[in-house]
Amino acid sequence: MNILVTGGAGYIGSHTVLELLTSGHNVVVLDNLCNASAESLKRVEQLTGKAVTFYKADIRDRAALDKVFKSHRIDAVIHFAGLKAVGESVAKPLDYYSVNVGGSVVLAQAMAQAGVTKLIFSSSATVYGEDAPVPYKETMPRGKTSNPYGTSKAMIEQILTDISIADPQWSVVLLRYFNPVGAHPSGQIGEDPQGIPNNLMPFIAQVAVGRRECLSIFGDDYDTEDGTCERDYVHVVDLAKGHVSALQATERSGTHIYNLGTGTGTSVKQMVEAFERVTGVTIPYQIAPRRAGDLPAFWADASKAGKELGWCAELGIEDMMRDTWRWQQNNPTGYSR
Ligand code: NAD
Ligand code: UFG
Repeated sequence: MNILVTGGAGYIGSHTVLELLTSGHNVVVLDNLCNASAESLKRVEQLTGKAVTFYKADIRDRAALDKVFKSHRIDAVIHFAGLKAVGESVAKPLDYYSVNVGGSVVLAQAMAQAGVTKLIFSSSATVYGEDAPVPYKETMPRGKTSNPYGTSKAMIEQILTDISIADPQWSVVLLRYFNPVGAHPSGQIGEDPQGIPNNLMPFIAQVAVGRRECLSIFGDDYDTEDGTCERDYVHVVDLAKGHVSALQATERSGTHIYNLGTGTGTSVKQMVEAFERVTGVTIPYQIAPRRAGDLPAFWADASKAGKELGWCAELGIEDMMRDTWRWQQNNPTGYSR
């Protein structure tokens, strides 16, 4: 298939582009590089020996999107482009609604005009909300989100669902990611956050490589086994393969929702211990106050993706640690943009 990947230069996007190319698909990427480097795509081309057509453009730029759809016969779109920092979304809600919601609307309009009606969207476990029981199942209703980032994801899910109800030609696949971590086993592509990392795994990696002194663990008094929060960490290569598998769901009209997780929760302390065990590097840490908005523990019921897409996560916590460390050691300052 010919696939347009928005946000394809980013962390999950670049890994997905690689898996699409190795599965025989052709890929066009549109990304404004506000949180990525074109170097990621160069490396994907080197690793696969295949070319990626790249457009540097904003997802809200309708003329740019029209040009892409006129220049290529696109069969399906995988839509990653968006802003993703939870804390920043509280400070800059308009940016998040403009890029995430506005950008998705402009994309859907351009698709409709071009007659492209297959769309896979990057959603998040955060749409289950604050009060959902674990494990999260796709049959549960969306819950109360606690920040504009999460609300933008819930809004986009609703907008895309409404489009597929209004026009039965559309097929919308909502992929709800749990906590993506790790890097490609080549050590050539990985996560490259700007500034101080918000997320646990890149923070641990930067402490290990000497860029940060000490990890703060946000709270050890939760009602969990060791008192620290538990999450469902999923290897980014498994997640990327989940998108290739999800293409088959775009053959069915309507909206299809899938959790992409492993089905297992791991605590912050267990993550630190696993990193130390796999790499032999000690991670100094201190216990800090709880971070506002953190939930104690959640993980996926990932059985629907297994049954309907034949997808399940194959890589474990030790693979995530080993591959993160290889990427971080090979690229101590990321893509150095
Ligand atoms: P990322 O920031 O690495 O990738 C997003 C990409 O979108 C970047 O390459 C960025 O340059 C691009 N982009 C941002 N705004 C744009 C705009 N206005 N126009 C064009 N391109 C734009 O993030 P990621 O971790 O790869 O996340 C990809 C998607 O998955 C996002 O939609 C994110 O919300 C979603 N998601 C991520 C996580 C996670 O923990 N990483 C969890 C759940 C969902
Ligand atoms: N944590 C620390 N120290 C850090 C960073 C994180 O202790 O320096 C802890 C957090 O408190 C949390 C756990 O590590 O308990 C995981 O935190 P992350 O920030 O890595 O991930 P979150 O679960 O908070 O967020 C992720 C995605 C969001 C998504 C959210 C809910 O990054 O996009 O899951 O699905 F919205």
